[in-house]
Amino acid sequence: MLPVRVSQSFNLQSGAFTVLVFHTVVFLSLIHSCRGQHKVVCLTETIVAMVDEDVIFPCHLDPVMDAFGLTLEWGRPDLNPRFVLVRRDGKEIESMKHPSYEGRTSLFTDQLKQGNISLKLSKVKLSDEGRYRFFSPQLGETAVQLVVGKWEHFVLKVIYI
Ligand SMILES: *[C@@H]1O[C@H](CO)[C@@H](O)[C@H](O)[C@H]1NC(C)=O
Repeated sequence: MLPVRVSQSFNLQSGAFTVLVFHTVVFLSLIHSCRGQHKVVCLTETIVAMVDEDVIFPCHLDPVMDAFGLTLEWGRPDLNPRFVLVRRDGKEIESMKHPSYEGRTSLFTDQLKQGNISLKLSKVKLSDEGRYRFFSPQLGETAVQLVVGKWEHFVLKVIYI
């Protein structure tokens, strides 16, 4: 009789142990998935630029993560095609870019490894005004608004003040 009882109580204990291990594994993997989540942080939500200026959309990954090989997309949802810059497998894909942005958008490729995904837009045009959306399947999305001012407006304001 005794050996049976011992074995039953051992089974009970091992069952409780299995449940405990299971919960611990679930708990640890939850912590891990939270820790693995990198956020895209932009230092500003709105950028004001004058026509012909160069402008930087200042965004980085927090915590720091190597973005060199990731899929990175900067676009304007109101355009067709909507992309102003697409990077896949470590290369920029020029053919996906909206023609109006040809030769005017770039990333700081030497800083992607440090998680700097800032977009540079050169020679800003009035038509560049709008909402710019960053998206990466691995990182999620964020948006920055660009407001374009004209020097004429600025000068007129100064004269009238
Ligand atoms: C990203 O790189 C640009 C160009 O060097 C720099 O102006 C900007 O401050 C950098 N941003 C971060 C978050 O390091």
